[in-house]
Amino acid sequence: MTWIVEQDRTWAEWAALRVLRVGPVPNHLAIIMDGNRRFARKEHKDTLAGHTQGFHKLTEVLCWCRDLGINEVTAYAFSIENFKRSKQEVDGLMDLAAEKFAKLLEEKEKLAKHGVCIRVIGDLDLLPPRIRKLTAEAILATRLNTKCFLNLALAYTSREEITSAMNQLSQGVDKGELLTSDICEELLEKCLHTRGSRDPDLLVRTSGEVRLSDFLLWQSGFSCLFFTKVLWPEFTIWHLFGAVFYYQRHYHTLTAARQESLALRQCIVEESDIENCHVKFGEKVSQEHISAYTSARQERVQNFLSNLHKIRIDNLQQISNEGE
Ligand code: FPP
Ligand code: MG
Repeated sequence: MTWIVEQDRTWAEWAALRVLRVGPVPNHLAIIMDGNRRFARKEHKDTLAGHTQGFHKLTEVLCWCRDLGINEVTAYAFSIENFKRSKQEVDGLMDLAAEKFAKLLEEKEKLAKHGVCIRVIGDLDLLPPRIRKLTAEAILATRLNTKCFLNLALAYTSREEITSAMNQLSQGVDKGELLTSDICEELLEKCLHTRGSRDPDLLVRTSGEVRLSDFLLWQSGFSCLFFTKVLWPEFTIWHLFGAVFYYQRHYHTLTAARQESLALRQCIVEESDIENCHVKFGEKVSQEHISAYTSARQERVQNFLSNLHKIRIDNLQQISNEGE
């Protein structure tokens, strides 16, 4: 089963695509692929068959997203909570992931041709070593592709992600790379597993559950949330069209709320720079002092982030060389 599915569209699907593409289309779609086991039970199949169908559905959705012009997808494939499931199911899912990542590596030329960059978000240390190695190889092999992005959340929860970001910031302060006053929303965001991605515009959850289950909690504050009763393996292109249409109906309110929040964030940073300048230089602070303080802070932050990036790439390279 390939990662790059190509499908012919029916006349009706093309017509709907053309209509939807006239309006705003989300750049980034996040998906909670729920209902695989219920689907398996309904079809009298075993649980793993449900998850395998779930994977196939994901590859189809990626093809529909390409047709729609959605260039980034983040899919919740395995939560840290999912490790509590039976050993048989967890092992089965890990074997499935191993098989699919091995296939992905075989298809890396095809992925490069389509410009697909694969990122894995989550605590890679929690994955079995063979999966960790394959994910590191997949990330490194596709990291220079820039046309579309697939982020797979594996061993992921938002709480772990935010805690890990806080730890990185605290280590930055301990090493003297950062000042505590440098820590702000924007910097914390750049330490999340999703750094480098824009926040999702639309988040879809299937199977009728109406909650986020610790998925992209930080990133989805201004996303359009769409819940549908269909089980994930039964999701069709028409359900996706429905979700995009729902997004288009809420587009203006969502965009206004997001812009307001960004403007507020900017104000907070500017005020904090002024306040920190007062602490450093006393009452008589000039515009030059403030500009110099802001530049120094930006440089500190940039160096910290460059070091972090280098450490991450070295770490991935080390993981991908494990066992050689
Ligand atoms: C949720 O349905 C689904 C999962 C926990 C696993 C999703 C995984 C895939 C679709 C395959 C991913 C593949 C790769 C290569 C990473 P559920 O098990 O909670 O079903 P239920 O809600 O009916 O119980
Ligand atoms: Mg479920």
